[in-house]
Amino acid sequence: EKGGYEHFMRKEIHEQPASLRQTLSGRIDLDRGAVELDLEFPKGYLSSVEEIQFVACGTSYYASLYAARLFEEIADIRATVSIASEYTFDGGRDPWRTLTIAVTQSGETADTLGAIRRAKRAGAQTLAVTNMLGSSVSREVKNSVFIRAGPEIGVAATKTFASQVTTLALLAVYLGRERGVLSPSDARSILEDLRGLPGGVQQVLDNEASVKEAAVAYQDSDAFFFVGRRHGYPVALEGALKLKEISYDHAEGFAAGELKHGPLALVTDNTPVLAVLTDGGNIPNTVNNLVEAQTRGAPAIGAISESHEIDSLDVGFEVPDAGLFEPLIANVYFQLFAYHVANEKGRPIDKPRNLAKSVTVG
Ligand code: F6R
Repeated sequence: EKGGYEHFMRKEIHEQPASLRQTLSGRIDLDRGAVELDLEFPKGYLSSVEEIQFVACGTSYYASLYAARLFEEIADIRATVSIASEYTFDGGRDPWRTLTIAVTQSGETADTLGAIRRAKRAGAQTLAVTNMLGSSVSREVKNSVFIRAGPEIGVAATKTFASQVTTLALLAVYLGRERGVLSPSDARSILEDLRGLPGGVQQVLDNEASVKEAAVAYQDSDAFFFVGRRHGYPVALEGALKLKEISYDHAEGFAAGELKHGPLALVTDNTPVLAVLTDGGNIPNTVNNLVEAQTRGAPAIGAISESHEIDSLDVGFEVPDAGLFEPLIANVYFQLFAYHVANEKGRPIDKPRNLAKSVTVG
């Protein structure tokens, strides 16, 4: 059932080109620069929405952070993200014009279910983005968009993160067109980048040997720090979560600009810094932040847009051109890095201690 892989996690990392194709299948109309999704909101509702609120936990929360930025950029709409257990929406000024989107792989996460119920009670419209049709969360809402990643057995979410961000990007384009703020040609260029994702992810998977080499070289570090900007920031958070949950090593993600506001005190020659250095994420400033860490002796590992060259890095991984989605591709390097560090240490990768695949208690 693991199809020749030692762990489901590695199998699922490698399934991403195929699962992303499933996510996109039949949903893109390039000629019209449009996205096709089966959504049944009252007529005219989507163009009258004033605020999107995402509610989610864990990796789904990071996918939502990525998406909120996309919604602001692509659909020109205010988008906020709440950790579901911290969500306190009371209806605000105009609940009807608030769309609350629950992002949940399993559809069974108690905190996310609680948040979506609260939004409904307050009068907001609701939507679920999930891998499980028929799940508790999808039964609670009128509209669900299925991420179609296929079953994910490993406790660590991998392919579902990629499919969540991709589905949410489709939704942002859908909304942008619906609201009349996104031209067909701008939509087309985003959709072309999405269509290129499976191929881009495959290029990363083909580099797995070099990621393993870096994992072997740095596995005994005291801690690992991940940094990024813009869409690279949630990917830094996700990279750190993946590494800590399966390797049990200390890992933290930071906005690159925040390093100098405190975390730099933790940096030594035994704390590698892994950076998202992709187009649109202010590469020069992020490199400056990295240099500050390197000055303290920290090894620097970067996932870099293929159009850039950065000589000062200890390890560089090439990220193919993918517009807004380059950090999503960079994330696959981080998944492989976490996997190989944990594997070198002989951790029970598919079932890390103390964790469950779906968290049904609040
Ligand atoms: C991390 C992980 C968890 C889940 C979180 C939410 O690898 O898997 O952080 O992302 O428990 O789960 P869902 O998406 O099912 O609501």
